[in-house]
Amino acid sequence: MTPSPTEQVAIVGATGALGFGLALRLGRAGVPIVIGSRDRERAEEAAARAGETVPQGTFSGAENSQAVAGAGVVILSVPFRNQSEILKGVRDTLGEGALLIDATVPLAAAVSGKATRMLGVWQGSAAQVALEMVPDGVKVVSALHTVSAASLADLDHSLDQDVLLCGDSRADKRRAAHLLQRVDGLRCVDCGRLEMARIAESMTALMISINAKHKTHAGVRITGLPDDDWE
Ligand SMILES: NC(=O)c1ccc[n+]([C@@H]2O[C@H](COP(=O)([O-])OP(=O)(O)OC[C@H]3O[C@@H](n4cnc5c(N)ncnc54)[C@H](OP(=O)(O)O)[C@@H]3O)[C@@H](O)[C@H]2O)c1
Repeated sequence: MTPSPTEQVAIVGATGALGFGLALRLGRAGVPIVIGSRDRERAEEAAARAGETVPQGTFSGAENSQAVAGAGVVILSVPFRNQSEILKGVRDTLGEGALLIDATVPLAAAVSGKATRMLGVWQGSAAQVALEMVPDGVKVVSALHTVSAASLADLDHSLDQDVLLCGDSRADKRRAAHLLQRVDGLRCVDCGRLEMARIAESMTALMISINAKHKTHAGVRITGLPDDDWE
């Protein structure tokens, strides 16, 4: 796959587990990353840590709405209970045509339930909540639910797994795939419309159960697909 032209990529919640691991991997692949946080200093500290871990990467830190302003791609990686509040805080700075890649999962853990159970979400999925909240012209793709933060953050670990992409526009999914597949060992699979995110998100609960059972950080691989069809 030809590398995507380098758009500014902001990761909201990249001070946390999944976002930080993804920042390291994308940074190592040559993608300049803006780490977003509710707190500018925390974002800057995380950017400095990322720079120490991946010296060849380009990382900066900013308060969430500053991080999002001017970003072509925004990855949202925050707990479900905070997703709507954080989206409310950044939606006015999301630019027309921006792509929001939503990794949020409505785990029951968000309301003190088990991490192996899901919450019912009126809209169907966290990604559909995001779609409902962003301004017209902002694109939403759901992704990354089966990728473990720990395996992303361990840069010595070779990734060899699929990323399940759901979204209503093939072009938006292609844009997300061109970015995420810059990470060695990640292959993006088009799983259909955004409403399929309900199932992809629930796979996080399944992965948590598998990982607990086998004491590992497993990933998923879909077999029988044609070769890379994102061109
Ligand atoms: N961890 C995984 O392996 C994994 C895998 C697949 C999907 N996911 C999903 O990806 C999302 C992020 O997961 P994570 O494990 O990275 O989460 P996390 O580390 O708990 O949180 C990520 C970031 O969200 C912000 N945040 C945390 N609590 C908050 C609160 N009470 N109010 C507002 N913001 C808060 C924090 O950023 P600031 O405090 O800096 O603002 C934090 O660094 C979740 O929806 C999770 O279910 C996780």
